[in-house]
Amino acid sequence: MTMINLFTPAFAKKVLNNPQQYITVASNMILHSKNNLFSYPSIYPTTPIGSSIPFDLRFKLYNYLFESYPLYSQVIQLSGQDLARKHYKYPLKYKFRPDHFVDLEYLVTRGYCITRDFLPENNYATIVSSLNNTLKLQPKASFSYNRMTVFKILNIPQSLREATAILQRYLEELTKLFFNTDVHISFSIQTIEASIEDNHDPNTIPHLDRFIPTLKAFYFPFAVNEYQSPFSFAPYSHIIDDDYQRCFKDAYIFNKNNRVNPFRPSNEFEDRFPLMNICVPDNSLVLAFTNGLHRRLRFLSFPERRISFRFDWYSSLSKFNRFYV
Ligand SMILES: [Fe+2]
Repeated sequence: MTMINLFTPAFAKKVLNNPQQYITVASNMILHSKNNLFSYPSIYPTTPIGSSIPFDLRFKLYNYLFESYPLYSQVIQLSGQDLARKHYKYPLKYKFRPDHFVDLEYLVTRGYCITRDFLPENNYATIVSSLNNTLKLQPKASFSYNRMTVFKILNIPQSLREATAILQRYLEELTKLFFNTDVHISFSIQTIEASIEDNHDPNTIPHLDRFIPTLKAFYFPFAVNEYQSPFSFAPYSHIIDDDYQRCFKDAYIFNKNNRVNPFRPSNEFEDRFPLMNICVPDNSLVLAFTNGLHRRLRFLSFPERRISFRFDWYSSLSKFNRFYV
C-alpha cells in the first residue's frame, strides 16, 4: 500500500466499504508485529508503541477482549473469580458422528483432548492414499531451526482437498461452537523430517505461545510414538488465573532483561505443571491450548518423519476484530 493509494477516491471507497478490516490492519501495525499484520497479541511486541504498553495492562486488556469468545471465556479467570462460566454454558461433548464425540469438558479443564478414530474409515483410507502422492510433490515451503530437522509445508493437491473436506467441516462446526461466530481457520499440512539428530530447535523447549487463550488443533493421520517427536503438553497449565499472570510476568521480565527468548515461563511454573507426551494412534485429532506449557519432544530415532494437519485461528482472531464482531 503506497502513500499515493491512501488518498485516491478508489481507496477511500474501499475503506468505507470495509472499515473494520482497515482499522484492524492499522491498529495491528501500530501495536504489534512488523511482519504479520494480523498477528494477535504476542509475548513479543515488536513495535515501539506495543512495547511501551505495560505488561500488566496488555495482559488484562487482551484477555478481557478474548473473554467474549465462548471457548476462551472458559479458561480466563482474571480476577481469580469464575468470571467466564457465567457467560456461556457449553455442551460437554461435541458429537460429530454417531458414537463419536470430542470431549470438550476435558479440553477446557485439562487444556488438551485426544479424539481417536476421528475420520470415518472410508474417508481415512482416501486421505492416506492421497497423502502418499502428496509427499512426492515439491513442498510449498521448507525451513529448519537447527539445519538437521526439516519442516515442510506441503502443497495440497485437489485429490487431497476433496479427501480432507470432511475433516475441515468438523473443524468448522467446532469453530462455531468455540467462538460463536464464523472464524477463518488456517489449515496446513506439515511434515517434520529428522535425519541424524534433533537438537537446538526452540520448539523442543517447553514454552507458551501467547499469554492469552490460544487453541490449536492437530490431526495425525499416522500413529506418533515417543520416538517420533510427539506433542507434549502440561495439563492444567492453560488456565489463565492470577498465578498464571504472576509466574509469566516474572519470567517475562527475567527473559527480557537477560535477552533470552521471552517465551519460557518461570521454573516454578514448569515444576508445578509437568509435561506429558501425547502419543497417538492413527487417525487422531488433538486439540490443545498452546498458551499452556508445551513443546514437541525431540526425535529419538532416525531417520524419522512425522505428519500433521494443523489448524489454528490466529490470524482471524486478531484482537482488534473484537471491537467490531
Ligand atoms: Fe508452541
